[in-house]
Amino acid sequence: MATNRTFTMIKPDAVSSGYIGAILSQINEAGFKIVAMKYTKLSAEKAGEFYAVHKARPFYGELVEFMSSGPIVAAILEKENAVEEFRKLIGSTNPADAAPGTIRAKYARNIGENAIHGSDSDENATIEGAFHFAGTEIFE
Ligand code: CMP
Repeated sequence: MATNRTFTMIKPDAVSSGYIGAILSQINEAGFKIVAMKYTKLSAEKAGEFYAVHKARPFYGELVEFMSSGPIVAAILEKENAVEEFRKLIGSTNPADAAPGTIRAKYARNIGENAIHGSDSDENATIEGAFHFAGTEIFE
């Protein structure tokens, strides 16, 4: 995946609260192009694999349980400097620290149920995008 792409998931809390449309609008208004998207549900096994980097963290079990608790929206987004720009748009991991107007400030419940994921590096954007999408599901 090119460095002008990032990967995101609208998490089960935001989906169940009915925020998919509002969040996608904010993403579009910020100038991101959706090049891949699916509405899906992760099994506990898949969620564990996706977040394997956090396996040693005390919150890992809770994170896997939450991320497999309901449907998510997974997407690959394109914009210049996508990873950094998207992390600015979503705000800090803990919504209590997220800047006003950011997606997490508006829609997240707490540090665990924090509405949305955004890749933290170009390398992880590529890995995470490939985890969810086949090449034939990505459109320029
Ligand atoms: P995300 O950006 O998807 O990447 C890792 C996730 O772990 C993070 O969002 C949070 O949902 C979760 N997380 C990080 N820190 C904590 C914490 N202290 N307690 C519970 N969940 C956490």
